[in-house]
Amino acid sequence: MKITYYGHSCFSVYTGGKNLLFDPFISPNELARNINISDIKADYIFLSHGHEDHIADAESIAQRTGATIVSNYEVVLWFQSKGAKNCHPMNHGGKWKFDFGTVKYTAAAHSSVMPDGAYGGNPGGFVIESKEGNFYYSGDTALMMDMQLIPLMGVKLNVALLPIGDNFTMGIDDAIQASNFVQCNRVIGLHYDTFGFIKIDHEAAVKKFNEKGKELLLLKIGETIDLK
Ligand code: NI
Ligand code: MN
Repeated sequence: MKITYYGHSCFSVYTGGKNLLFDPFISPNELARNINISDIKADYIFLSHGHEDHIADAESIAQRTGATIVSNYEVVLWFQSKGAKNCHPMNHGGKWKFDFGTVKYTAAAHSSVMPDGAYGGNPGGFVIESKEGNFYYSGDTALMMDMQLIPLMGVKLNVALLPIGDNFTMGIDDAIQASNFVQCNRVIGLHYDTFGFIKIDHEAAVKKFNEKGKELLLLKIGETIDLK
C-alpha cells in the first residue's frame, strides 16, 4: 500500500489498483500550500464526517476525477444535493465490498455538521481490507472502547491512522491506548499542527510511542511511503 500525506487528516492510499483519498482539506490549509490539488488522483473519496476541515476539497476533486464519494448517508445526501453523481452511502456497522477491497464504516465519538449548517449524520471511521493490506482510518474521534471490536472482528491491521492533536480529538496518550485497542503498533498521526489548538511536539510524541514499543509515523506533507 502506497500512502501519501496531504496535510491535516488527508491521506491517499493506493491499494487494489485504486486511489483512495480521505478527508481532503488541502486548498484552505496553509501548511499544504505546496500541494497541487489538480495532480491528486482519486477513484474514491472517503469522508469521515461533515466538518469543513475534512471535506473542503471533496466536491472539486470528485468533479474533476469522477471519484465516488463514500460517507455516511447524510453527508452523501448533501453532496448529491450539490450535484455529486457518484456516491456510496453507508452507516455505522455496515460493510461493503468494493472493487479494491471491503470497507466497514465504524463509529466515532465526535460531531458532524455540514459547512452550511445542514445535518451531517453521525461521524465515523473506516476499516479497509484489501489484498495489499488492512488499515483503520478512525476519523476525528475520542478514544472509544468500540475500537476493541476491530481485532475481535478478526481484522489484522497493517497500520492505524489516528488523530493525535488533542483538544478536538484524541491526543498522544489516548492514541497509544487506541493502538492497544486495535492491536496495531504502527500508527500514522493525523489531525495535528494545522491550527493553534492542535500543535504538537513531534519529538515528544514519537518518543512516547517508542517507549511503549510502538511506531508513530509523522509524514511530511507531500511524502509517500510504501507500507507492507
Ligand atoms: Ni471534526
Ligand atoms: Mn477535524
